[in-house]
Amino acid sequence: MNERQVPKGYVLLANEKDNLSFDSVSSLAQRLHFHTINEENLPIDSLPKLIFENNQWRVFTDDRKATVGVDFFLPSFYSRLSRQGSEKENVVRAVKGRNKAELPLSVLDATAGFGHDGFLLANAGCQLTMVEKNPLLAFLLAQAIHRVANSDDIIAEVASRIIFHEGDSVDVMKNWQGRRPDVVYLDPMYRVTEQEPRRGLKKTAAVKKNMAFLQQFAAHNSVAEDQLLFKSAIEMAGSKVVIKRAPGAEHLALQTPASSIEGKSARFDIYPL
Ligand SMILES: C[S@@+](CC[C@H](N)C(=O)[O-])C[C@H]1O[C@@H](n2cnc3c(N)ncnc32)[C@H](O)[C@@H]1O
Repeated sequence: MNERQVPKGYVLLANEKDNLSFDSVSSLAQRLHFHTINEENLPIDSLPKLIFENNQWRVFTDDRKATVGVDFFLPSFYSRLSRQGSEKENVVRAVKGRNKAELPLSVLDATAGFGHDGFLLANAGCQLTMVEKNPLLAFLLAQAIHRVANSDDIIAEVASRIIFHEGDSVDVMKNWQGRRPDVVYLDPMYRVTEQEPRRGLKKTAAVKKNMAFLQQFAAHNSVAEDQLLFKSAIEMAGSKVVIKRAPGAEHLALQTPASSIEGKSARFDIYPL
C-alpha cells in the first residue's frame, strides 16, 4: 500500500519470539489497508490495531481498551462445549433435528463469522466446512481453529472435524466438488434496528462487542446478495437449509420456512428439501 494513503488500522509487528509468519501478517495488512508499525510508533487513536498478545492475534479498538478476537477457550464459550450441553443448543437442535443417521451430518456453515455456531455444531459431532469472506475475521477464525487443533485439550478433536475456507460461499458452493453437504447453515448479518429492544433481544457485553465489531468491519449483504446466498444454499443442501435470524426479524429473502425454533436471542428458520 502507498505509505501516504490514510491507513484503516494498524498491525503491530510481532517480535521474532512470536514465531509468526511475517509474510502472512503483512499480506493481511495489505489486504485490509492497515499499516504495519512498531510498538513505539503506535498512535493513540481510535483506529483498530491488530496486536499479538498472549499467544494470539486480537483486534484492539478504542485505544487498546476493548479487544475482539476469536478464542474457543474463553470460559464463557468453553463452558458450552460439554457433549450433552451442546445437544441442547438451539443451533444444534435446528441443524440435527431428528437425524439418527450413523454417518456424521455434514454441514456447510456459509457465514462462519466468529465460528461460534459452527464450533458448537462440530462439537455435537457434525462434520463442518466453514466459510468466511471477511479477511480480518477469516484470519482470526483460522488462527483460533489452529490453536485448538494444536492444543492438547479435549476439544482438539472438535477442530479435526472442521475445514475452513476464506472466501465468498456463493463461489464456494458454485465450485463445490464431491458429496454435497447435508445441511447448509446461514447466519448473515442483519441490520440493527431501533425495534430490537422491543423484540426482547438480550445481549451480554461480549455479544454486544462482537456485534459492534461486525457492524464496523463486515459489510452488510445487500438484499440481492442475501437472495443469492439463499438460492445457492437451497440448490446445494442435501436435506435442509437452516437460517439464523433475530427474533421478530423478517425471513431471509422473504421465504417462509417450514418451521422455526425460537430462542431468547435468535430464531432458527428451517427449510427441509
Ligand atoms: C452474523 S456473522 C455470523 C456469526 C456466526 N454464526 C457465529 O456464530 O459466530 C455473519 C458473517 O457472515 C459473513 N458472510 C456474509 N455473507 C457471506 C458470504 N457470501 N460468504 C462468506 N461469508 C459471508 C460476514 O462476513 C459475517 O462475518
